[in-house]
Amino acid sequence: MIKAVRGTRDLLPPDTGLWNFVDAKVREVFARYNYQEIRTPIFESTELFARGVGEETDIVSKEMFTWEDKARAASEKTQALTLRPENTAGVVRAYIEHDLGRSGLLQKLYYIGAQFRRERPQKGRYRQFFQIGAEVLGPPSAGSELPIRDAEILEMLTALLDAVGLKGWTLYLNSVGCPNCRPAYNQALREALATVKDRMCVDCRRRAETNPLRVLDCKVPEDQPIIDQLPKIADYLDADCREHFAGVRAMLDTLGVPYQINPRMVRGLDYYTRTTFEFTHGELGAQSAVLGGGRYDGLSEQLGGPRAPGIGFAIGEDRLVLALQAQQAEAQSPLVAYIAPLGAGMNRHALKLARELRQAGIAADIGDESFRLKKSFETAEKLGARYVIIAGENEVNADAFAVKELKSGEQKTVARAELAEFLRN
Ligand code: HAM
Repeated sequence: MIKAVRGTRDLLPPDTGLWNFVDAKVREVFARYNYQEIRTPIFESTELFARGVGEETDIVSKEMFTWEDKARAASEKTQALTLRPENTAGVVRAYIEHDLGRSGLLQKLYYIGAQFRRERPQKGRYRQFFQIGAEVLGPPSAGSELPIRDAEILEMLTALLDAVGLKGWTLYLNSVGCPNCRPAYNQALREALATVKDRMCVDCRRRAETNPLRVLDCKVPEDQPIIDQLPKIADYLDADCREHFAGVRAMLDTLGVPYQINPRMVRGLDYYTRTTFEFTHGELGAQSAVLGGGRYDGLSEQLGGPRAPGIGFAIGEDRLVLALQAQQAEAQSPLVAYIAPLGAGMNRHALKLARELRQAGIAADIGDESFRLKKSFETAEKLGARYVIIAGENEVNADAFAVKELKSGEQKTVARAELAEFLRN
């Protein structure tokens, strides 16, 4: 038997109902904050991620699905292509390619789509997963660099998580500085690591030389006490970065957005500058980050574009859905009514009733007149319907139907004209 590839999975009903609910809610919230959708290709030049995300990151150094794409004609060349492991680099590439900055306005863009990383699969970690993300970028004259962008995006995230009904999240916040202050911090890290790196994992020993900041991402348990003793970036921020971060925090305080400072959170991608953040959720176990993001003021220039500071985030939709499922112990079926035609010749009457209810916006399903009442009730139960409506000859003649609420077992006769209203409440 052929099975889905390791790390990929089929999303099946009824779970897809929750995915669609999340998609619809986030689109609604994005519209309220004046975001518009962007769709970039699922694969890009490998070089985009190497230069954008960074060669030393886990993503680029070991997790990308990359292949050599052979030329098919003399006019083409063989090229290195990669399934996108994230969407920020693609969005910034598109911003540059289509000169989206020419209007002088901020670009507020969102995306929903599949991403690919060759990670070790486990609950909440897949090789194909979905992100809901957004990026705000533009020329500095549009205010793209200002702390209000950071605060607005973090406030929107709380509204977004509220809209889908996620409770119990924690927001962790940090500033990772800028190219002006990072070298001094890197130097301090390098020096501190020189004396302890021999006691650390092989990856950290390498990173201590090549990109010491990445040591802070290390997940090896034995390395953690050593990492906790390393210098903190907060002590190395220059005056502008300190002021920027204080501005963001002051606005969050005024808005009442709760957060915790986590000085170790540098995030696993190289493009970040200044504000970085993650929202975690306790129900998710080891893969607790529901979303992550931050500012990337130099990314456009790094990719050969104009100056275009920006900030964004990506929600792991798989994890968001897992957290929502853990929260609502029993998933609510969207099916309101199951109509049971009772007796020969009743199908057409029942079908007419189903049409009326569906036109009134009520989700309804229907059995068959050959089913015994017991079978109709069992089917309704399995489908997760809230009510069973019996459509027999007496009911049709009286123009009033027996309606039974499955959970309470309560039964009532409701006139046809009032049925939709009754089911809605
Ligand atoms: P990231 O932290 O690499 O950031 O990913 C964001 C979120 O995607 C994670 O918090 C997690 O919920 C989800 N995620 C990542 N890898 C997996 C996986 N293998 N399986 C399931 N979910 C996963 C970025 O991707 C940045 N582009 C975010 C960003 C946008 N920063 C600025 N703008």
